[in-house]
Amino acid sequence: MHILKYITAIAVIITMSCSSTVQAQTKTDNNMKSVIVYFTHSGNTELAAKQVAEATGARMIKLLPEQPYSSEDVNWTNKQSRCTQEHLNRSLRPAIKSIDIDFAKIDTLFVGFPIWWHEEPAVIRTFLDKYGEQLKDKVIFPFCTSYESPMSEADATLKKGYPSLKIKKGLRLPAKSEEIKKWISK
Ligand SMILES: Cc1cc2nc3c(=O)[nH]c(=O)nc-3n(C[C@H](O)[C@H](O)[C@H](O)COP(=O)(O)O)c2cc1C
Repeated sequence: MHILKYITAIAVIITMSCSSTVQAQTKTDNNMKSVIVYFTHSGNTELAAKQVAEATGARMIKLLPEQPYSSEDVNWTNKQSRCTQEHLNRSLRPAIKSIDIDFAKIDTLFVGFPIWWHEEPAVIRTFLDKYGEQLKDKVIFPFCTSYESPMSEADATLKKGYPSLKIKKGLRLPAKSEEIKKWISK
């Protein structure tokens, strides 16, 4: 009988310690209070944003330019195309639609984009300019997708362009879930 009581007590302790681990994990996710803002033209960055959402539980918000980019707009072989002009003239800021974020409720922001001309597209600069004041006390994790370019050049242009924002080192996706978790833990 004593042995039975002993086994039951151990079973209860094990069950309680397991459930508190689950609670702790859930709490960590909730504590992050994060949002993912991303721009995509052909869908790759949306898939990347989903990967980040799966790893963090953050809500995804798509950045939409007021004037969508046509296929001719993103023709980088044409010197007159919209994307080439936005690349050559770094002061251009294509208008974006307003987004629904309660900045008071978040502490971390993920910003995703396709690499255009080795760096962040001008739409991302519009976003950072427009909401910069509200972003000052947030931690920002940039991420990208690209054909082959690494994240490092966009890391450099973002740091240079927005020295007052707390921008962390970015990540190029797709990436393994462990890599994403390691990235955001830094
Ligand atoms: C205008 C333009 C410029 C690009 N410049 C680069 C580049 O410099 N380096 C690179 O590796 N990929 C470049 N790409 C490829 C995109 O970064 C890549 O296809 C990305 O995954 C597209 O993301 P999306 O599907 O979310 O739009 C460029 C694509 C476009 C349309």
